Amino acid sequence: MTQMPLIVRNIRELRGQIWEWRGAGETIGFVPTMGALHSGHLSLVELSKTKTSKTVASIFVNPTQFAPGEDFESYPRTEEEDIEKLASVGCDLVYIPERDSMYNAHHATHIKVGGVADNLETDHRPTFFEGVALVVTKLLNRVAPDVAVFGEKDYQQLATIRRLVEDLDMPIEIIGAPIARDKHGLALSSRNKYFNIGGLATARKLNTIMFACAEKLAKGKDIQHCVFAAVDALKVAGFTSVDYVTVASINSLTILHEGQIDRPARLLIAAHCPRNGKDGKTVRLIDNCAIGD
Ligand code: PAF
Repeated sequence: MTQMPLIVRNIRELRGQIWEWRGAGETIGFVPTMGALHSGHLSLVELSKTKTSKTVASIFVNPTQFAPGEDFESYPRTEEEDIEKLASVGCDLVYIPERDSMYNAHHATHIKVGGVADNLETDHRPTFFEGVALVVTKLLNRVAPDVAVFGEKDYQQLATIRRLVEDLDMPIEIIGAPIARDKHGLALSSRNKYFNIGGLATARKLNTIMFACAEKLAKGKDIQHCVFAAVDALKVAGFTSVDYVTVASINSLTILHEGQIDRPARLLIAAHCPRNGKDGKTVRLIDNCAIGD
């Protein structure tokens, strides 16, 4: 029978349990999430379980990382199903903080990461990483894990959290987990729930275009040429707008504009895909892949 995880909503209870585990010599892994879990999230828990003896996952739809007009209110909330899914992969504790406990009325602290957090997502969602940095710092302080696992799908987020943890001297190992994809190569995302069948068919073209572009780059084709061709291909495929198709070095995320790739690099894409409902709404997809080995 599946063992249900402990469900904790209160910070004192969370710290008490972590303290007890630490006293018993356990090590703690942590997977923060915003819920609406899919098998990509579950693979993060599975990875954490290979590193530590206990794994904590959190579920918190963090308001500070949504800009006005984004989907904070409508973001899928599926708590019961999420808990069952976490139980199925042997998660030990699910921390579900109340919104007021995370941000009380007097909250006045902001965390801004520079460098890797500049450009790319920040050009299109200027307050996103401040929201992420704040909530992740608070969650890491509360759970105090040895290891925390984040997906490579949010590649710039992963780089930002690595920077944050190093700069703020947090004794936590940050582990990046490979992107989970459906059988058509679409990167798994909680927001894929917004698509109907037609929208999904378009969304699935993104990874094909991305991998084809990465292959050309790996063969030494000019960066600018490959980027322009990928933007065109996305538009032809039905994407309504493309926020970026960018080549960046893997660690510093320095953007490479033209010529041949001359260092380990990653191709990163963000584009808006029609949901294909009558309302004409779109879903913003992000994806990325290595260039070469
Ligand atoms: O990647 C996410 O789901 C979120 O940005 C995170 C890291 C859980 C912070 O809210």
